[in-house]
Amino acid sequence: MRVELSENSFNSTVADMELIVLGLKDLLGYCDEQILERAGFKAAQSQICALHDMRKIYVGADRSNLQSIRDAIAKASSNLLSYSYKRVKIEASSYDELKAIVTGMLLGSYSFDRYKSDKSSKEIVLQVCIGSDLESKRAKSLIDEVVTICSATNYTRDLVNTPPDDMTPVDLAACAVELARESLLECSVYDEKFLEDEKMNAMLAVARASVHKPRLIHLSYRPKNAKKVITLVGKGLTYDSGGLSLKPSSSMVTMKMDKAGGCAVLGILKAVEALGLPVEVHGFVGAVENMIGANAYKPDDVLVAKNGKTIEVRNTDAEGRLVLADVLCYAQQSVKADYLFDFATLTGACMVALGQYTTGILGHSGNLKHHIRRASSDAGELAASLPFNNYLKDLLKSEIADMSNVGSKPYGGAITAALFLDNFIDDEMKQKWMHFDIAGSAYSESSWGVNPHGATGAGVRSCVEFIKGL
Ligand code: BES
Ligand code: ZN
Ligand code: ZN
Repeated sequence: MRVELSENSFNSTVADMELIVLGLKDLLGYCDEQILERAGFKAAQSQICALHDMRKIYVGADRSNLQSIRDAIAKASSNLLSYSYKRVKIEASSYDELKAIVTGMLLGSYSFDRYKSDKSSKEIVLQVCIGSDLESKRAKSLIDEVVTICSATNYTRDLVNTPPDDMTPVDLAACAVELARESLLECSVYDEKFLEDEKMNAMLAVARASVHKPRLIHLSYRPKNAKKVITLVGKGLTYDSGGLSLKPSSSMVTMKMDKAGGCAVLGILKAVEALGLPVEVHGFVGAVENMIGANAYKPDDVLVAKNGKTIEVRNTDAEGRLVLADVLCYAQQSVKADYLFDFATLTGACMVALGQYTTGILGHSGNLKHHIRRASSDAGELAASLPFNNYLKDLLKSEIADMSNVGSKPYGGAITAALFLDNFIDDEMKQKWMHFDIAGSAYSESSWGVNPHGATGAGVRSCVEFIKGL
């Protein structure tokens, strides 16, 4: 799918199909009202009606709601791929609507067909026409920006969707190096020897039973005019079998997505660099595979993390927090940042709390949470905050170590996981830190909103929006 700004008005733009977004209220007295009524079109959300003879495709949406427009366009764009039209035109009446249309198109038409013999090689050009009250220069640069952000989101989706044997920690690190090679980003990759020297024993324990060796990735973007510094940390579990606390077979399917936090960090850096934003951004990814084997780490082991704190392992499936513990420590030691965000498919409990579609945001600063929620909503992602409290903190107490890696009660698991991470945040960073639990929002086996089956690229649009606002 390619998006172009039309030089002409809607009527004089040449295309072989018109895409028209129509709301219930617009339907009454509309020129095609009777034809649409006979076709059973009620302008319900994302309902599609293709009138091929008239070269028009209608899609239902509430035109006063950007999310509704975005979702409808996404549905229409995947629908368009089933026809042979090459040029499609659409009209945008405001900048916000333009952003929603382009986002819906580019994210909704994504498909992951690398492993299909039959690849869809269709290239559709979307001609966006704007009303005379909009400036074409501003519209053009808005389209460029949205294209950049959506390409980065789709890049993250590609990484996450790649099967675990083709995206091991070493492969993920190679992708980061490649990303840096084709841009102004810098990339360093560290192996186990380095992790040992840095005393990152929690991360090493998780990695130990896999034949695919762990990697610590540091990707950075340092523009000359940087106004702020932000550090991003990503959970990069290229596969999570659960370890000796083995997952049931049905829960293991889709666990290639446990690298989605790390992949989001790569996507965010890709977008920020391409946009040339005046913010220094560092991405740290702990790339590890959690497997079983004779040398696997076990429930009952006690690990000493990089900052010297001891952790009683009571469940090897709560591995993401162990990896993040060390990577967070390393990231804070390496860079003095104004913000520290981590992205992780950390807990099934987050999905229980918020549903599958919403990212959980957890941290100490109400003000920062407020800004992140705003950025998420402007970017078109769902995010909601889950509150800390000291009683839940007590659930992490261990009789034999500084803390346990799981809570002693089965409730509030997304919060206890974040409270676990809090043990690895330096005092001066407490108010600057935010944890994004993307366990539900990063991947879905059925399509929703602008997301086809599979990885969504959760976190990329929100974080880029936040960085843009700095
Ligand atoms: N990667 C999982 C969390 C997850 C579950 C992500 C489902 C996406 C979908 C994580 O490592 C995990 O297994 N967490 C456990 C923690 C528990 C043992 C305290 C969980 O959520 O069950
Ligand atoms: Zn796990
Ligand atoms: Zn995991």
